[in-house]
Formats: sequence, structure tokens, C-alpha cells
Amino acid sequence: MGTEVVVEGLTKKFGSSLIWKDVSLTIPAGEISVMLGPSGTGKSVFLKTLIGLLKPNEGHIWIQGVDIATCKEKDLYEIRKLFGVLFQDGAMFGSMNLYDNVAFPLREHTKKSESEIRQIVMDKMELVGLSGAEMKLPGEISGGMRKRAGLARALVLDPEILLIDEPDSGLDPVRTSYINQLFIDLNAQIDATFLIVTHDINTARTVPDNIGLLYHKHLAMFGPR
Ligand SMILES: Nc1ncnc2c1ncn2[C@@H]1O[C@H](COP(=O)(O)OP(=O)(O)OP(=O)(O)O)[C@@H](O)[C@H]1O
Ligand SMILES: [Mg+2]
Repeated sequence: MGTEVVVEGLTKKFGSSLIWKDVSLTIPAGEISVMLGPSGTGKSVFLKTLIGLLKPNEGHIWIQGVDIATCKEKDLYEIRKLFGVLFQDGAMFGSMNLYDNVAFPLREHTKKSESEIRQIVMDKMELVGLSGAEMKLPGEISGGMRKRAGLARALVLDPEILLIDEPDSGLDPVRTSYINQLFIDLNAQIDATFLIVTHDINTARTVPDNIGLLYHKHLAMFGPR
């Protein structure tokens, strides 16, 4: 069903430099939301704050009754298991083939057997259109394929919340629309809550149920597309 994320009065500074202030919104369960904003407005910082990699200076982030802005490290560790994250650069391990990259979270966080892992990895690779590329290294494939491999890896633990950072950066329009269509199809199939951050207006126009805009250090709007 996915999980809603409730953000209340969130403010983030680095030293004395304000990134954004008083951001409040509810990211609806199971829907696709896009946060749009020019480069440097703090979209990646926002995603990292949502998964607890960065601490906000003020505010709350409620997920299943836990405020991840203030909770203990131990609770944060549990809540993190609900997330799948596709980082801006794909964040693949360069020396591992795609199979091992996608299998990594399963080997790290579950006690599944290698044959169970194999089934899940092959299934997710197929879902993102990468069947047959399992043995390739990240350096041997295109940027679009790397993003899809990152997406497969973000999906292996069956996340309730999927965070996606600039799926369209570095991709040509054809590959951008391919991966955007993939998000729409995927959302219909798995029902997780999707949050995509991007500066691509076309993505914001075509993909989401809801759109937000980060602008001039605050959330200028958030609502149904
Ligand atoms: N760990 C950090 N320490 C200090 N400043 C940081 C840190 N991370 C990000 N920043 C600053 O926060 C601001 C927002 O950065 P962020 O990467 O979130 O922008 P963005 O909206 O994702 O941009 P882009 O569209 O180019 O990816 C930038 O000015 C950046 O220099
Ligand atoms: Mg960014």
C-alpha cells in the first residue's frame, strides 16, 4: 500500500547557510510525487534528510508514527528498511557486475539463500529491462542502463517508499521518457510511495500525481498535478 511521509516545519542549514526553511507537506501513500527545483535548491539535501542521512535543524518527519528527525539511531535503522533509494549518480560499486550490485542489499540485510536471491535479482532486472546484462560492469554500460540498474537495486528489498534523485540527469530525452514510463508502470505494479526530485519540467509535467516546487529557499507549493 505504501506509507505516507509527513514533513512538518523542516529547516536545513549548513553552518550559517540556509538551504530551505519551514518545509511542510504530506507525501501521499502509494502515489508518485515530484519535487521540482532549480539546481542547487537543496533537492538532494531534502532526500538525504528524509532518510535520516542528514539531520534537519528544525522540524519533524513522521513515518509510521516515528519522527526520524529526532528518533534514536536504532529506530532510524529499522525505518530505513522501508526505503529504496536511487541516488543521483546511480551509486554502483564499480568493481562488481550488475548482478552482484543488485544482490548487495539482499546479502547485506537478509538471510536469504543464494537461490532465493537469484530469483529476486533476475525478477528486478527484468522489471527494469536489463535481462541479459547481469554480468556487465557498471563502467561498461550507458548512463541510462546504470540508472535502471540502480533502480533494480533500490527495489530488491520491496520498499514502501522509493526515493529517486534526478532520474533524468545526464540522459537524452528518449531515455528520460523511457525511465519515466518505467516509474509509472512500476508504481501501478508495486504501490510503493514514490518521491522523485528533478529540475526537469517535462518529468514533472508527465509523471506524478502530485507536484511540489522548491524555490527561493522554501516550498513554494505542493499539491495534485
Ligand atoms: N554536506 C554538505 N555540507 C555543506 N553544504 C552542502 C552539503 N550538501 C549540500 N550542500 C549545499 O547545499 C546546497 C544544495 O545542494 P543540493 O545538492 O541539495 O542541490 P540540488 O537541488 O540537489 O542540486 P542539483 O539539481 O544540481 O542536483 C548547495 O549549495 C550545496 O553546496
Ligand atoms: Mg541534486
